[in-house]
Amino acid sequence: MGHKIRKAVFPVAGLGTRFLPATKAMPKEMLTVVDKPVIQYALEEARAAGIEDFIFVTGRNKTALEDHFDYSYELQRTLEERGKTEALALIKSWLPRPGQVASVRQQLPLGLGHAVLCAKNLIGDEPFAVILPDDLVLSKTPCMQQLVDVHEETGGNVVAVVDVPREDTKKYGILDVSSDDGRLASVRGLIEKPAPAEAPSTLSIIGRYILTPTIFGHLEKTGKGAGGEIQLTDGMVKLLGAEPFHGLRFEGARYDCGDKIGFLEANIAFGLARSDVASELRRIIAALA
Ligand code: UTP
Repeated sequence: MGHKIRKAVFPVAGLGTRFLPATKAMPKEMLTVVDKPVIQYALEEARAAGIEDFIFVTGRNKTALEDHFDYSYELQRTLEERGKTEALALIKSWLPRPGQVASVRQQLPLGLGHAVLCAKNLIGDEPFAVILPDDLVLSKTPCMQQLVDVHEETGGNVVAVVDVPREDTKKYGILDVSSDDGRLASVRGLIEKPAPAEAPSTLSIIGRYILTPTIFGHLEKTGKGAGGEIQLTDGMVKLLGAEPFHGLRFEGARYDCGDKIGFLEANIAFGLARSDVASELRRIIAALA
């Protein structure tokens, strides 16, 4: 029923103010979890879901992101000369093929909805994925693959959701659902950052979406919403009723790396999931506790 998802948008034009001073001259998407920048986890997750085109919506100070996925002539040459074949193979193994990465500038940080709209011409007329690199998911099946599987069944729009404590609804986009089988919910309403007493549920959207291109027309007409920004949620609201719209409680654990504590937690969780550092890390944590 659904279309093949070939393209993913990575909105990376945010200012990252919660991570100052780290983000003063460096994009927050280059922050590393264990030894990999969060943007690389995001790109690898998209690729694991069969996605072939990666679109970065960038802002000023973001050239390190483009460089990270480029051929690194001096480094590769030096590694070659020194016979460091393992390190060389490692950095070559995930380099995107020529033409797979494109970037477009969001000239002003007008909000996530506006950032997605900036990718309109590069997406064209097909459903596409949106991945916010801030959200890392540790799971057996990559989170985006889980959304792609649902999209194949249901078509239309699919977002990844988690249950949050009621007092936290004010931090997220929250679903109002018409049916819910415990895994997949059919969405009839969306509200950005509702006060706990007004939240229609505690199902919050995380940074993984499959959207139809209909969203672009809606985003073009969406004015400033919560926080004075053009909100993706406000654009998505207009899809409801007109097209299928589902929320998936995905399998896996999500870490919000846009936030200091979430970022520290992600480093520990991803470290513990890595055979090369897990036992040493466990020893260190025990010693500190
Ligand atoms: P955040 O709400 O985390 O904002 O954006 P931020 O600016 O990145 O970080 P803080 O809050 O100042 O610390 C959520 C996602 O939307 C992107 C961000 O890059 C992030 O992936 N975004 C946000 C844009 O691309 N453009 C915008 O205008 C706003």
